Amino acid sequence: MAVTLTSHHRMPHAAGIGLRLPHLAEVTATLPAVGWLEIHPENFLANPHAAELLIELSHHYPISVHTVGISIGSVEGIDKAHLTRLRALVDAVEPVLVSGHLAWSTHEGAYLNDLLPLPYDEATLRLLAEHLDRVQDGLGRPYIVENPSSYVALATSTMTELEFLNELVHRTGCQLLCDVSNVYLSGHNMGYDPYPFIDGLPAGAIAELHLGGFTPEEDEASPGSEQQLYVDTHATPITEPVWALYAHALRRFGSAPTIIEWDSDIPALATLLGEVARADAVGAEVRQEPQQQHHAHAH
Ligand SMILES: [Fe+2]
Repeated sequence: MAVTLTSHHRMPHAAGIGLRLPHLAEVTATLPAVGWLEIHPENFLANPHAAELLIELSHHYPISVHTVGISIGSVEGIDKAHLTRLRALVDAVEPVLVSGHLAWSTHEGAYLNDLLPLPYDEATLRLLAEHLDRVQDGLGRPYIVENPSSYVALATSTMTELEFLNELVHRTGCQLLCDVSNVYLSGHNMGYDPYPFIDGLPAGAIAELHLGGFTPEEDEASPGSEQQLYVDTHATPITEPVWALYAHALRRFGSAPTIIEWDSDIPALATLLGEVARADAVGAEVRQEPQQQHHAHAH
């Protein structure tokens, strides 16, 4: 039977990979058994050959477009020319989802020093709602917002990150991409328990989950201290505490489709497929648990 999808709008039932350029040729040639693929459109905009392969792949897999060049938190506004270029690619690929970070910086990987967060307050909510409108109009599709990896709390914030995300969903009707690794590492960096954070997210608004690796680094703000910062590098395997938190997220959110992200020190495709298999195995285990566990908050 042909594996070709008859509809581009079929949602995946299995985990997928963040497809990066080093694996593009191999994935096109071998069509590995993953539920879906997520791409960064910015990798394809100036690369017509890669874009051609991507469009070919879109006939075999549901595609998720995860933008890294749009910054809905940027006070400078949204780059219209970039939106127009993205729209053309998105129209060609017909993704099942389009998403992006709740980011303040416009450069992916420019974390920590360059990523100066905006305060979680009324003015930022209004700015984000306005930018979200503009992005959704420009792309002609809903734009799903991902929770950030956090390193510092701003004294001027009037609400917590959790309250802020809930309010953003409430006001704009947007859906969320819950990066489970970001919840885990932000909890470590900011000193909160990631489990009640997951419990406090609006479950009905969760459209996708992310899993990725992080790197413990010395905290530059307090050199010599024992306390390490967990940095969202996407350069390592997913750790056991994140797998456990992922199971908890699946109990709470149901079967949200999951993507494994690995963006630097990119391993062999087989390694990524192993992480996908683990995510699917965790999902299968959770589905077999008695239902009452799905609402238990114990961990
Ligand atoms: Fe992510």
